[in-house]
Amino acid sequence: MEQKHLNYKERINLGSYYTKQELVDIVFSMLKKHIYDMKQFCLLDTSCGYGSFLKTNICFKKKIGADIDIKALDETKNIKNVKLFCQNSLVDVNRKNIDILSTDKLIVVGNPPYNDTTSIIRKNIKKDIFQIDNDLKTRDLGISFLLSYNKLKADYICVLHPLSYLIKKANFTLLKNFNQNYKLIDSLVISSSEFVETSKTTFFPIVIALYKKDSLGMDYNFIKNYIFKTKEGKIFSLSSFDTISNYLTKYPNQNYVKEKNSVAKFWTMRDINALKRSRTFVNETTAGTIFITSNKLPYYCYVDIFKTFISHIPYYFGNCDVMINNKKFLNIKDCFETLSAKRFYNLKPYIKSSKTVKEAQKLVENYFKDLLGQHYVY
Ligand SMILES: C[S@@+](CC[C@H](N)C(=O)[O-])C[C@H]1O[C@@H](n2cnc3c(N)ncnc32)[C@H](O)[C@@H]1O
Repeated sequence: MEQKHLNYKERINLGSYYTKQELVDIVFSMLKKHIYDMKQFCLLDTSCGYGSFLKTNICFKKKIGADIDIKALDETKNIKNVKLFCQNSLVDVNRKNIDILSTDKLIVVGNPPYNDTTSIIRKNIKKDIFQIDNDLKTRDLGISFLLSYNKLKADYICVLHPLSYLIKKANFTLLKNFNQNYKLIDSLVISSSEFVETSKTTFFPIVIALYKKDSLGMDYNFIKNYIFKTKEGKIFSLSSFDTISNYLTKYPNQNYVKEKNSVAKFWTMRDINALKRSRTFVNETTAGTIFITSNKLPYYCYVDIFKTFISHIPYYFGNCDVMINNKKFLNIKDCFETLSAKRFYNLKPYIKSSKTVKEAQKLVENYFKDLLGQHYVY
């Protein structure tokens, strides 16, 4: 249901992007596929908004909703057989507060807010909603919510969250207590465009993820080898791509490379979506500058030209590192150099390529079609 009581700032602040029925249905069909008798379980959404996930006709032992936004709960009151709590679900997290017994079997569903808390506080919007128990505190509200489900000892968790929580190693590490107790058993990757209409934003992958309590948990290798499916019918695994971080440094290296030994400078690199917005080769030296030695120059040209091909990369790779097929790249590295030297004249003295721009462009295009295969966006 369309959110109708919050203004723009409040909506961003609370992460109130309500979930459409089609996505709610995907959550319940995933649960049905894996759980035989849902009647034995309590259903809980601790950030329920208007209650999209609580309207289900499926029978549960109890249905419980909570939200910090009292006006949203006014709307949810109309759903039958749901017990509601107005609370900050990240403070004093325990089953008792929301009328769930320690013996109850529990399924958590929902679409918790995903917000970088630090950037929002800086924007000077209400801070009080960001009170979070110390053991759940992270830089992202959504990660804190996942940790809270672990604290509630849910048997199953089926929620929407940014795929970056799993695939970015730093995020995965923040999920430590969660990862020790849960295993991803089913999932579907969708685009953030499902929530925002404007095509001006950069879309990122969201995963509808079903986790099951598992004493062995999951490690990062499990995620690297996991085969993700997308709503568009594509499948991918992180381990099927080699990444640029194996060949160059993505971060400032001024501690161990001297400026006088460098032939060019580059801007700090993060993921593919960040590269879309950021610069590549730069002239100035700042704290974010990487000094490039001549032997590494072709790899930085690679990233520079990769940036020009980003429109051919699907949204679901948005939070990945720049991918590379090193062997095939080395065969045509002079093509990347030619194309970068056309974009940045000051690279010319360091580049010994005999390729014309036209030849290089064709070979590079074929390289990317081959690298991405079924994922190349035409
Ligand atoms: C993405 S919306 C999801 C709402 C609903 N589950 C749905 O999918 O339509 C996120 C919800 O989280 C609520 N929320 C944000 N911070 C919260 C907190 N600390 N505790 C409880 N609810 C919170 C917001 O008010 C909002 O209703």
